[in-house]
Amino acid sequence: MSARRAAIVGAGPAGFYTADQLLGAGFDVDLYDVLPTPFGLVRAGVAPDHPKIKSVTRVYEKTAGKPGFRFFGGVELGSDIQREDLVERYHAVVYAVGTATDNRLGIPGEDRPGSHSATEFVAWYNGHPDFADAEFDLSASRAVVIGNGNVAIDVARMLVLDPDEINVTDTADHAVAGLAAAQVEHVILLGRRGPAQAAFTNPELRELGELQRADVIVDPAEMELDEHSAAWLESDGADPTNRRNVEILREYSQRDAGEKSHRIELRFLRSPVEVIGEDDSGCVTGLRVVRNRIEPDDSGRLRAVSTGEEEVISCGLVLRSIGYRGNPLPGVPFDERRGLIRNEGGRVTSDDGEPLPGEYAVGWIKRGPSGVIGTNKKDAADTVARVVEDAEAGRLNEPPSPDAEGIEAWLRECVPSLVTWTGWQAIDVHEKDLGEPQGRPRVKLVRVPEMIAVAQGAIHVER
Ligand SMILES: Cc1cc2nc3c(=O)[nH]c(=O)nc-3n(C[C@H](O)[C@H](O)[C@H](O)COP(=O)(O)OP(=O)(O)OC[C@H]3O[C@@H](n4cnc5c(N)ncnc54)[C@H](O)[C@@H]3O)c2cc1C
Ligand SMILES: NC(=O)c1ccc[n+]([C@@H]2O[C@H](COP(=O)([O-])OP(=O)(O)OC[C@H]3O[C@@H](n4cnc5c(N)ncnc54)[C@H](OP(=O)(O)O)[C@@H]3O)[C@@H](O)[C@H]2O)c1
Repeated sequence: MSARRAAIVGAGPAGFYTADQLLGAGFDVDLYDVLPTPFGLVRAGVAPDHPKIKSVTRVYEKTAGKPGFRFFGGVELGSDIQREDLVERYHAVVYAVGTATDNRLGIPGEDRPGSHSATEFVAWYNGHPDFADAEFDLSASRAVVIGNGNVAIDVARMLVLDPDEINVTDTADHAVAGLAAAQVEHVILLGRRGPAQAAFTNPELRELGELQRADVIVDPAEMELDEHSAAWLESDGADPTNRRNVEILREYSQRDAGEKSHRIELRFLRSPVEVIGEDDSGCVTGLRVVRNRIEPDDSGRLRAVSTGEEEVISCGLVLRSIGYRGNPLPGVPFDERRGLIRNEGGRVTSDDGEPLPGEYAVGWIKRGPSGVIGTNKKDAADTVARVVEDAEAGRLNEPPSPDAEGIEAWLRECVPSLVTWTGWQAIDVHEKDLGEPQGRPRVKLVRVPEMIAVAQGAIHVER
């Protein structure tokens, strides 16, 4: 009997871990991505000044080298191909499409010029082709980054890195130029809750205190914890990461005034209520915020409650970093409230809760936009366990057309510019060759037609 065949849609960490484990379970795997390039947020999210983290792609390259693996890049589920096309050809279809869009604050002025989501800013500096033409006016001296997660730290740090630090990274060329010309000297990181509730991880917070040209500033008054937070931190229920965050922030608050040219300042217990501008649709001139206090809700969770006391922080740039959100895929059940594919433990379920045979979800689109790269490995193991269970119980999909060559022929008809793993390897070599003379890991291609031309062997770097 020929191997069972799985389609995985989305070649980010969750897609690759799932591919590896399904190959291990005896499936043949076709891994699809809308981009000609693999690796999802490892390429388009992880900060360019963190190259070691990006080197996790070596693990994924090993997966791609295994028999039974194929990569189909430049194929969008929902436009180039549809869910039904996959169900017709695969015993199992796994959605690993991540959560590409951003949460909204829902406040007046959110879409003024100069107010952007971190999602867009990150995709721009990392060379995601959909954001290559995005424009960011970085001429203001003060920026506010809303949110207290690691993405907020990433974007705050990128704004104050020295051009020399950026020049040795794979930051997209348009952003290398844009960031070098930036006038931002003061970045305020704004949390709606207190220091004890910040979602930063310790190494990322610590890194803020070691920046080459920026001091980190915390007003000691910000570190006077309310009674609920103080009691929670002492309790067994507190996370050691939060305890350590408070220690790191306390140390920052005790530092002497620094002498560096730039600064990142952390302010807490403030929620944005309006992005203010010159007129109704004019550029950002400030952020109106309300002061909060911490109170437990009915379940004991410590939440931010408005005190009604407002203040205005003057600034010319606002970056909203309050978490990512999934987009629905045509024909795939979606939980609008949570912004995720409807699923139970990875099995996609219909609106009335019945599992759809042979359809699964994994990664951020399954469980929500949180967790580091490695979290997706365990998550993939959970989803693959469901696939294997269903295979053993005869509950997979029974596709009429699972033939490997037939699938590729059909796909090439739908997407004549299909990029295979060999095509991606050509892009990879090309980008690295462009980067080498500049002492950079790579120079990213940011235009899809150029990527395709390189993948097809039509463009070479002259050496
Ligand atoms: C800005 C940022 C920085 C981060 N930095 C770190 C870090 O330093 N260290 C760390 O451990 N974790 C980091 N993370 C977390 C980590 O990136 C995630 O845990 C991980 O990428 C989630 O994996 P995923 O495969 O679910 O989604 P993604 O990585 O988003 O991959 C989804 C893939 O699906 C593709 N896709 C989407 N829609 C379609 C479609 N319709 N058809 C075909 N393909 C589609 C996308 O192109 C993408 O390649 C960061 C996250 C962000 C947002
Ligand atoms: N270097 C790394 O390892 C790295 C780098 C980047 C990202 N990541 C990971 O990727 C995941 C996503 O990171 P993330 O930063 O996008 O999300 P996150 O960790 O969930 O942080 C989101 C932040 O936004 C705040 N927020 C949400 N809604 C808000 C609102 N309406 N008003 C004001 N603030 C609001 C949250 O505050 P509340 O807590 O009050 O809700 C929280 O501080 C995380 O697991 C992160 O660790 C890791």
